[in-house]
Amino acid sequence: MGRVALTRVTKRFGEVTAVSDITLEVEDQEFLVLLGPSGCGKSTVLRLIAGLESPTDGSIEIGDRVVNGVEPKERDVAMVFQSYALYPQMTARRNIEFPLKNQRTPKLERARRVEEVAETLELTEVLDRRPAQMSGGQRQRVALARAIVRRPEAFLMDEPLSNLDAKLRTQTRTELIELQRRLATTVVYVTHDQVEGMTMGHRVAVMENGVIQQVGAPTEIYDHPANLFVAGFIGNPPMNVLTGLPTSEDGRLAIETPGGGIPLTAPQQDAVRRSGATQVAVGVRPEHIRLDEDGPLRASVAVIEALGYENHVVCRLEDGQQVIVRLRAEVAAPREGDKVHLGAEPRRLHLFDATTGARIGT
Ligand SMILES: Nc1ncnc2c1ncn2[C@@H]1O[C@H](COP(=O)(O)OP(=O)(O)OP(=O)(O)O)[C@@H](O)[C@H]1O
Ligand SMILES: [Mg+2]
Repeated sequence: MGRVALTRVTKRFGEVTAVSDITLEVEDQEFLVLLGPSGCGKSTVLRLIAGLESPTDGSIEIGDRVVNGVEPKERDVAMVFQSYALYPQMTARRNIEFPLKNQRTPKLERARRVEEVAETLELTEVLDRRPAQMSGGQRQRVALARAIVRRPEAFLMDEPLSNLDAKLRTQTRTELIELQRRLATTVVYVTHDQVEGMTMGHRVAVMENGVIQQVGAPTEIYDHPANLFVAGFIGNPPMNVLTGLPTSEDGRLAIETPGGGIPLTAPQQDAVRRSGATQVAVGVRPEHIRLDEDGPLRASVAVIEALGYENHVVCRLEDGQQVIVRLRAEVAAPREGDKVHLGAEPRRLHLFDATTGARIGT
């Protein structure tokens, strides 16, 4: 059973709280991604699971045993780092074999398992080369092979693709997903790259400042971000966010922004009233905002970014705030300098309390 569970785990380094009261259960055979900006505590969580750090507070379970106080090498997890630290004087074969030697696996069995994992990762050809004689992608796969060959309960991966160039990165990403499905093994994967996070994870845990902000399936997080931080962190180009005052006219509540008043549905109006928010941040994704003559926001087109498959129409409101509209390439784009009106279907709006960042309504 490759289940990993953290219960109310805190890790302090002197004055710094790297991880704050985290509770998280990774299911057996799940691919869970820890996603967040630099310094938010992702690596610390992995190191706590691996046993390279001990928690200041809380408990950590692997399988069905509590592992607080259990030595790293007794934890039956394998860690793959960004800097994959192969032994430079050893061939790929000896690098991969190394953990099995440590476990005193018999020689024939060792050879068989190395061949097997090398085949899985397409390394058979390079088994007799040393790291300096391999490409970056091959070295990365040797590091993976060295982790896999032990058949651990769970893999802990810390930005394992970040040393690869863009193309190899995309390719290795797909290979890793396939591999995880094939091995049916538990993976906890750390990255600050949202594309990696969203494409690889069965679930994604978004972290900021040592705290998990939201855990859920990628689409859940994209469609229903729990707060302003998650809303702004996930999505590229990022969600447009306009902040304004809830204003009542004829008993109807709208959010008054520098571009104009944004009308809300009746349930949204109720939710804003109930929340007691004095300032409301209205979020709308670039693919959900439209150029619309009847739209409530006045803007002018600053720049058109043509990407071939789509255009990003970068608009500015009167006060200079930027709003990005994503247009399919087939749709005629306005010209730079044009005055436009923008609108969105009310159900596409995300509302947040601008002070606390908390989501308002569903
Ligand atoms: N051994 C340590 N001693 C003191 N502070 C530490 C130590 N390890 C981590 N920290 C601090 O804890 C916080 C979280 O660090 P961590 O390495 O977990 O972040 P991260 O999310 O992995 O960041 P990155 O994406 O840059 O790798 C940071 O503020 C960091 O400076
Ligand atoms: Mg890190």
